[in-house]
Amino acid sequence: MTGFASGTAAPEDLPGFPAPRSSACPFAPPPGLLALHDTGKPVIRVRTWDGSTPWLVLSHAAQRSLLTDPRLSAGIGKEGYPHTTEAMKAHAAEMQPSINNTDGAEHARWRRTLTSGFTRHRMEKLRPAIQQITDDLIDRMLAGPNPTELNETLSLPLPSLMICELLGVPYGDHEFFQEHASVTNAVNKSPEEAAATTAALRRYIADLIEKKMDDPAEDVLSDLGARIREGDLSMEEAAPLGHILLVAGHDTSANMITLGTALLLENPDQLATLRERSDDAKYVANAVEELLRYLTLPHLLARRAVVEDFEFEGETIRAGEGVIASLPAANWDEEAFPEPGRLDLARRASHHLAFGWGPHQCVGQQLARVELQVVFSTLFRRIPTLRLTAPLEDLRFKEDSQAYGLYELPVAW
Ligand code: HEM
Repeated sequence: MTGFASGTAAPEDLPGFPAPRSSACPFAPPPGLLALHDTGKPVIRVRTWDGSTPWLVLSHAAQRSLLTDPRLSAGIGKEGYPHTTEAMKAHAAEMQPSINNTDGAEHARWRRTLTSGFTRHRMEKLRPAIQQITDDLIDRMLAGPNPTELNETLSLPLPSLMICELLGVPYGDHEFFQEHASVTNAVNKSPEEAAATTAALRRYIADLIEKKMDDPAEDVLSDLGARIREGDLSMEEAAPLGHILLVAGHDTSANMITLGTALLLENPDQLATLRERSDDAKYVANAVEELLRYLTLPHLLARRAVVEDFEFEGETIRAGEGVIASLPAANWDEEAFPEPGRLDLARRASHHLAFGWGPHQCVGQQLARVELQVVFSTLFRRIPTLRLTAPLEDLRFKEDSQAYGLYELPVAW
């Protein structure tokens, strides 16, 4: 067990990461991942797809410490960075520096470009619009075919409409960007597909920014255009930022709506309380935190490269090594969340790490929260008879995507 957990074991003796999910319990993190908590170690070495052996951070406390440690870098081109797939590794050299892959003062500059646009206050002001869109989509769902597929009727349109509105992207192009976002997040894409998808999305955003430089509106892409005019930002910097926001801004929230709905339908007692208390904003807000904790969609994050040697919890972590802070492992650490496998919408769950931790913590978390609070307090109140029309074992879970979710969710009422 000592060699297994420390830096001295041979790669073939180390546990593989990621471990497979269990089809008996598809909402829970992989049993092989959770079993690593039994080692009692907050960090251990694992073996990944290319035979490299990064450190896996398991405990909630260790993740909060390491994800704020300046000796870890988000730089995807840095030696030892533990790339998720071959395509991402091959593609890393072409990636422009941006918000998600820079550190320190450079990263803070990127954050400043965006954070004022996504504050809690601003996102709260969007709540009535989010409620209206949700009600309209549910009206349309009720007037349409029964059964229906939830991704198509509700989960994708709601966050896509919102991020389009915020960025100033025409919603009419949703098929194009939703399709490209799903390739961006796919684990099994080829390096060529990854490059072509990124190039297409960047070109699309750059064209939009150019148009907005001539004809600005009140939206994030117009703001980026104005900063290009002022010489504050180049188009090479602005387009990747718009690209990240467009992809991150709809895909994760959509997966969370679909997967959260399926999980609630499988937990009728919890769902009944949520339905009864759907007017209780505090209860609903906490319920959303618990769903975020339980499901932890960014199941392959967060990844960093070590830039300076240091000692941590009895291990020597060296420059040039990789670190993966497994967010599901932290959110199912019983030191932080007693009985983590019990879905309890009333538990105190807001210290979960589903949005990451430290300087790279999710920029869009307040938007995602409002969207999820509105959907989960409205959907089951408006459609109390909502049910799955396929057994759980027939559903296709997105184990092969960076954001866990469901490819389809057939529902009826
Ligand atoms: C349920 C929905 C969401 C989840 C679970 C989620 C999760 C995350 C996580 C875990 C990170 C940190 C990654 C790391 O540390 O390496 C992150 C970063 C980020 N997210 Fe989200 N996200 C969600 C929704 C959104 C939305 C709606 C937006 C945009 C409006 C967004 C924009 C971003 C951006 C720009 C970053 C990079 C921040 C940085 O590196 O400084 N996300 N997200």
